[in-house]
Amino acid sequence: MTIETGRLRDKVAEELTRARDRTTALTEAVDDGDLIRQHSPLMSPLVWDLAHVGNQEELWLVRDVGGREPLRQDIDELYDAFKHARKNRPALPLLGPAEARRYVAEVRDKALDVLDHSPLEGQRLLSDGFAFGMIVQHEQQHDETMLATHQLRIGAPVLTADPPPLPAEPVTGEALIAGGPFVMGTDTEAWALDNERPAHTVDVPAFYIDRAPVTNGEYAAFIAAGGYDDARWWSTAGWDHRQAAGLTAPAHWQRDGDGWAATSFGRTARIVADEPVVHVCFYEAEAYAAWAVKRLPTEAEWEKAARWDPVSGRSRRFPWGDESPEARHANLGQRHLGPARVGAYPDGASPAGVHQLIGDVWEWTSSDFRGYPGFAAFPYREYSEVFFGPDHRVLRGGSFGTDRSACRGTFRNWDYPIRRQIFSGFRCARDA
Ligand code: AVJ
Ligand code: FE
Repeated sequence: MTIETGRLRDKVAEELTRARDRTTALTEAVDDGDLIRQHSPLMSPLVWDLAHVGNQEELWLVRDVGGREPLRQDIDELYDAFKHARKNRPALPLLGPAEARRYVAEVRDKALDVLDHSPLEGQRLLSDGFAFGMIVQHEQQHDETMLATHQLRIGAPVLTADPPPLPAEPVTGEALIAGGPFVMGTDTEAWALDNERPAHTVDVPAFYIDRAPVTNGEYAAFIAAGGYDDARWWSTAGWDHRQAAGLTAPAHWQRDGDGWAATSFGRTARIVADEPVVHVCFYEAEAYAAWAVKRLPTEAEWEKAARWDPVSGRSRRFPWGDESPEARHANLGQRHLGPARVGAYPDGASPAGVHQLIGDVWEWTSSDFRGYPGFAAFPYREYSEVFFGPDHRVLRGGSFGTDRSACRGTFRNWDYPIRRQIFSGFRCARDA
């Protein structure tokens, strides 16, 4: 074994443990009733997420990479996300909380043993520990999903965290991003998922992009101006949805005297004007942008604003450079239970002075989720490819609920344009 392989093994083990600590915290915060209950038809019971995380780890690390005997082949079907819609999952004969906890612990023991014996090279699934990295990201993604379930849970607060840092400087207006080609996507980021590949050159005409995400205060001005009652700002599909769903404000907002309050993880408080707005759907973001005489950025514009360094002409890993995210760069990793006020992360700004692209809120883009030129599904079609097409929009940048292992300048998230249970916000752009 080389020293390098030993280090990679340590890193993988550490990342697996970090993910499991978060899963444990999110599932131990509530009682068994709340683990089994469905808090919204949009979400799985938390106990489903828990065993599903273990089942994916068993499928990929224990059986596929390790070539070991199955632990619980009998439950594969229950935890296959394509076999049962979320709304039907509570009716399934799921493992109970104690059984699920025992199962994920047994899988983890085996997976760590597989890790100890894996060369972490030789085939694509193993090189740089990719299969392990994929499973780390999968667990962390479900941890963000579980955090979204917590936000939908009714009852006394059970999660606590420090408040995010305060703004260090005012950040207003737009940045001009020069026109021309840049490299989108990656071939070199070891744990990048299939939809982030391959790297390819995209020519992006000059555009302006907001230096900060749209805030609660700005969004409240759109509401006050009658934005929800004026079809002019909405696309046809967006207006239909606004009408059918009776949308009048972001999810979790309620009137409070002459202003607004919002409920966050069981606590209701006045909205903070300079915090990024969260829990809006794509159609609401699109309508706000039209009202503001702007538009949403395309996915390529978002990535160019986040990665392109005008000095070197190179695409970097993050807005601040190639350094992995530290607490000073971005509001990631559930360290805080909400977005930070605009200006709180000067160390995370891009060369053009665009702030908070990474962390805080996922940002809706105007782009459909599609494969890049030369896309090849790896290692399974069901991660990305089956979602390609006009039904899903891309979101970028990660939220306060996203772990750093599942967030990069190239990372792509997607959802239906009507969804707003995720930690979704946006920023605007316009042609230069
Ligand atoms: C990338 C967040 C859209 O949660 O549906 C989890 C990630 N894929 N298990 C999702 C995922 C399989 C995925 N998103
Ligand atoms: Fe999953």
